[in-house]
Amino acid sequence: MKKIGVFTSGGDAPGMNACVRAVVRTAIFNGIEVVGIMHGYNGMIQGGEEFIPMTSRSVGNIIQRGGTILKSSRSEEFRTKEGRKKAYDNLLANGIEGIVCIGGNGTFTGAEIFYNEFGIPSIGAPGTIDNDLYGTDFTIGFDTAINTAMDAIDKIRDTADSHGRIFFIEVMGREAGFIALASGIAGGAEVILLPEIKEDIAEVIQFFKDRQTSKKSFSIAIVAEGNYEGGAFAISDRLKKEIPGFESRVVILGHIQRGGSPSAYDRVLASKLGNAAVEALMKGEKNKMAGLINNRVVLTPFHDSIFMKKDLNPDLLKLIDIFNS
Ligand code: F6P
Repeated sequence: MKKIGVFTSGGDAPGMNACVRAVVRTAIFNGIEVVGIMHGYNGMIQGGEEFIPMTSRSVGNIIQRGGTILKSSRSEEFRTKEGRKKAYDNLLANGIEGIVCIGGNGTFTGAEIFYNEFGIPSIGAPGTIDNDLYGTDFTIGFDTAINTAMDAIDKIRDTADSHGRIFFIEVMGREAGFIALASGIAGGAEVILLPEIKEDIAEVIQFFKDRQTSKKSFSIAIVAEGNYEGGAFAISDRLKKEIPGFESRVVILGHIQRGGSPSAYDRVLASKLGNAAVEALMKGEKNKMAGLINNRVVLTPFHDSIFMKKDLNPDLLKLIDIFNS
């Protein structure tokens, strides 16, 4: 393989830049040319100035930066055959023989379809704060995101304590509760509501009623955005209806969880996986995601990382009840 492309796609995640750097430097170390494709699949379809030849220096001074220097997008056009054909023509015109795609489920789905239609091999690196990809213990960006959430929870805890208030803090995770579970445990939350577990709302109501009776001064509840009741505002409103005199505040942490300088863990993870992705392409691998399982790099077929469900860690889950009984 003489020339590869690299791009970032889907929701950005801290550590994507460290991964791009690892891809570019591993390729150059092995005598392979690298093209940075801007704006994910949209840039691939656009071609022209969206294709940027990368050197070792193009990725200097980015390991510590959040976001992605290659920019990102969620591409509607790549979902169409016409869009993918344009992307293929652009790759062909640029002599690109393989791709490293850094992103999540949607990114890998696109890469697999693209290979089946046009035969361009891809290897993925898991870049998403959600940690919801099967085939890796951690995704790039998750560690930074839970630390950001934990810092916010600590700050809110101070004011919750001062005013004796109940706070519902909503964290990201449309379909997965990894961020809620880890940041909730790290932030000492009394209640953690996860998309994967349909809590009995009656029990949640009872918890807050008991809390009122025992005159507990303040409480922190973490709610994953994809929670079954519809997020932190919905839960708080429901409790206001059910419990007379119930007062609470809601904080939506939102996109602050996606930004910021990556943690050391994310930088190291991104470096390992970016390197592994290029080495896998060089060995002729395709349609696989490079992940880390038990601290070893493992390649998992895209199909499995997309469709197999990654479970929440049961050792962490049981702590919610033990610590708050
Ligand atoms: O997939 C990462 C993520 O941050 C999810 O946790 C969240 O639901 C979604 O992206 C938000 O996407 P957008 O920034 O496109 O609104």
